[in-house]
Amino acid sequence: MPIIGELTEFYRQEGIELCAGLAPIHVGGLPKAPFTWFFREGKSVTDNLGIAVQEVYFLEHVLAAYAPTRALIIGNSMGWSTLALGLLMPKGMVVAMDTAPDPAMREGLALTNRIATRHNLPVRAVQGTSPQDVANIVDAELGGLVDFAFIDGLHTNEQVVRDYIAVRAKATPDAVYLFHDVVLFGLRSGMSEIGKLAGRMPRLLLGTPSGMAILFDEQAHPALARAVAAFAPPETAIRIVRQAAWDWRHRHFARWRRSVKKRVNRMREFF
Ligand SMILES: C[S@@+](CC[C@H](N)C(=O)[O-])C[C@H]1O[C@@H](n2cnc3c(N)ncnc32)[C@H](O)[C@@H]1O
Repeated sequence: MPIIGELTEFYRQEGIELCAGLAPIHVGGLPKAPFTWFFREGKSVTDNLGIAVQEVYFLEHVLAAYAPTRALIIGNSMGWSTLALGLLMPKGMVVAMDTAPDPAMREGLALTNRIATRHNLPVRAVQGTSPQDVANIVDAELGGLVDFAFIDGLHTNEQVVRDYIAVRAKATPDAVYLFHDVVLFGLRSGMSEIGKLAGRMPRLLLGTPSGMAILFDEQAHPALARAVAAFAPPETAIRIVRQAAWDWRHRHFARWRRSVKKRVNRMREFF
């Protein structure tokens, strides 16, 4: 079931306006434009943006094909992806952790819990840092092993591997791991490392704005594999689109060169 309207309304009721899903082309090519921005009284609340609308849509497909019971999120910020998962897992439990080093992120945790309580969602957002607090938080808040993890905390290759190792120690053998911002933050070497540890490579999802990656056993979850395939275009297709992008850029360059040449010729005529 689509959740984006309901999710947006949750924030409006709290006096927060959102800007979500902008294509970079609408705002001067800004790469982070598609993500979810939060505004209070006309001011952006944080740079820790929520996942993009297309990524919420992706979650809808994942959760339609796979029904986890215990989800852990590393990186809550304003609770956008946490509450999305809460809506998509009404019979499960979703726990989000965030270091919350500043007042805005501590308010983000409180806001997430307020919305969850008001709308009866199975969600808890707590202060804690990965990897050191993962095990305690899972034990205290989830009451069982994690079967879906969304890793969206500190975006470095070293940290994403630490996050994965910490969650894996508290996860079921067939758990599904979703990583945000893999392409946007250059986390491919972290994914390779995780691939070695897991014995299978995370699948890159270039059909999502941040370039997410997902790790799971395709044989154990065939329906999920079908859902995910729609967001992972084949390399042959991507190559053709990349070539089209190069041609497009080159055409602009050629046009610029023609115009400079024309101006130089005009100046020559003048002098
Ligand atoms: C991009 S934001 C998360 C956005 C959120 N998943 C959403 O879609 O709304 C990243 C968050 O991770 C938190 N964070 C960074 N490093 C962390 C760590 N090691 N453990 C827990 N949280 C962390 C930051 O405080 C920040 O709020």
